[in-house]
Amino acid sequence: MCGIIGAIAQRNVVPILLQGLQRLEYRGYDSAGLVVVENNELQRIRSTGRVAELTTRSAATSGHIGIAHTRWATHGVPSERNAHPHLSSNLIAVVHNGIIENYEELRTRLTAQGSVFTSDTDSEVIAHLINSYYARGNSLLVATQAALAELVGAYAIGVVAADNPSQLICARKGSPLLLGVGIDEHFIASDVSALLPVTKNVVYLEEGDVAEVSLHGYRIFDAKGQAVERPVHVSKLSNASMELGEYRHYMQKEIHEQPQALADTLEGVCNSQSLIPGIFGAEAAAAFEQVESILILACGTSHHAGLVARYWLEEIAGIPCTVEIASEYRYRVSVPNPKSLVVTISQSGETADTLAALNHAKALGHPHTLSICNVPESALVRLSKLHFLTRAGPEIGVASTKAFTTQLAALFLLTLVLAKQRGRLSAEKEQRHLHALRHLPSAVQLVLKLEPDIAQMAERFTDKRHALFLGRGLHYPIALEGALKLKEISYIHAEAYPAGELKHGPLALVDKDMPVIAVATNDALLEKLKSNLQEVRARGGELYVFADAGTRFHSSEGVHLMQMPEHAGYLSPILHTIALQLLAYYVALQKGTDVDKPRNLAKSVTVE
Ligand code: F6R
Repeated sequence: MCGIIGAIAQRNVVPILLQGLQRLEYRGYDSAGLVVVENNELQRIRSTGRVAELTTRSAATSGHIGIAHTRWATHGVPSERNAHPHLSSNLIAVVHNGIIENYEELRTRLTAQGSVFTSDTDSEVIAHLINSYYARGNSLLVATQAALAELVGAYAIGVVAADNPSQLICARKGSPLLLGVGIDEHFIASDVSALLPVTKNVVYLEEGDVAEVSLHGYRIFDAKGQAVERPVHVSKLSNASMELGEYRHYMQKEIHEQPQALADTLEGVCNSQSLIPGIFGAEAAAAFEQVESILILACGTSHHAGLVARYWLEEIAGIPCTVEIASEYRYRVSVPNPKSLVVTISQSGETADTLAALNHAKALGHPHTLSICNVPESALVRLSKLHFLTRAGPEIGVASTKAFTTQLAALFLLTLVLAKQRGRLSAEKEQRHLHALRHLPSAVQLVLKLEPDIAQMAERFTDKRHALFLGRGLHYPIALEGALKLKEISYIHAEAYPAGELKHGPLALVDKDMPVIAVATNDALLEKLKSNLQEVRARGGELYVFADAGTRFHSSEGVHLMQMPEHAGYLSPILHTIALQLLAYYVALQKGTDVDKPRNLAKSVTVE
């Protein structure tokens, strides 16, 4: 989604803005632009190409204060005229992330008052609205505050004025924004990764905050206009963690980081002798005592993690669990159960639908909330009573990989803690599960060794237009996740089914041109899955079987076997998903797509 960076410094800020934009590229964008103030004039450069093109175009531009933006189109097509920053009378410039819901009404009013609109975006109204207050003699801060009071919707914004080169105003509500604190220079950004080359000291703005940022300091005002102090955090992110290193793509790097990401996520637990609810927060034990069911809310890949967890929670902990897509739950009339633990799962912690679903659950009277999230300072973590932080590190590739497997690890811990608290986990079983968790990073290493074989298998998919993924039980969500990975980065249409559903419809699609990818695990459903696969072979379908050790599958005509190193029991979904991530990655490589930034997608979906 859109990314914002802004800077005020004694040095030329254009290189800082461009480098920041480059580091925000992973969020997904279709155009980019910047504005600097120089000699009491706004100099704006915009482009529908990559940030690299904007860099070329900005070669002759310099300034000591500026704002910049990567845009992911919502209102108005991707084009230069719709790219940010938006100007009002060449006096006010604004970058915006989010959606202004009442923009039509504001646009009509402002047009009647003489504002001239030059884009189709909702964002442009913000520039004209601020200008309308600024023109009445208000300071830039007061004009911005007055304008914000009229906006309905979500925003993170940066504002500069041509006649005020010493102040940059910013604000957030519903979209993330933070301040970067340097020595006699200050910055704003959508996320900390954009600021790492200039500072690690950051201040996270709270909902409704407005800040006035200058060379030597900043002032923050809360939603009521009261001056407030917000703590300065020192980011633990290192520049190296954002670099590609020896890998071709971030997705490949992140797939390979999974042993470490899992080890980091499980660190505290695996070093201890037993599981305690405290890993989810100080109040977790008391809250877990009261809950009698689980409601999981999430989107996309994070939703798939929830679907896997349902199998674990019901089987191991004996606790009823429902899993809902956040965007459905938030608008559905549901029957709340205050004794449900509402678990939200999100890599970014800023996904608009997941945040709204959590707020909706709270409004319905759910007191127990837990978030599983990869970003410590995110809105989701702040909104939840309890939280567990996955320690996957920054995930840059749009397609989620290490965030997903660490979410699964966290959800497995939740299952074990609840099982223990409910008297369903003997000491011996607890030790067995802990042992399996300690072994997980090395089990993942073994799967990663299949990379050359999977790359070879991927070559058979180059000319395919469709694919079917099958799994059963715990691995049906893994089939869903495999299909999602393939479709989002290779653009091959992929569907996933529980294998038992095949003959209830999708079997009609199977012919020699339809590859069928099967997750074949060595568990109680193996023989049933084998029968389902026979049904595919009998119709000429090509099978690609990812089979656990001991499943006795063999390669033969029309059956391509990928022998998985072992069967990991309850943790098997984590191993199988990694194999399918590699498959999607190498198919995308074959097809030459933009693996890390697939078309139309954004990393952090901060609008509905
Ligand atoms: C797919 C993918 C998305 C995200 C979804 C939710 O690879 O990454 O489906 O999982 O947009 O994002 P988070 O987890 O940040 O809430």
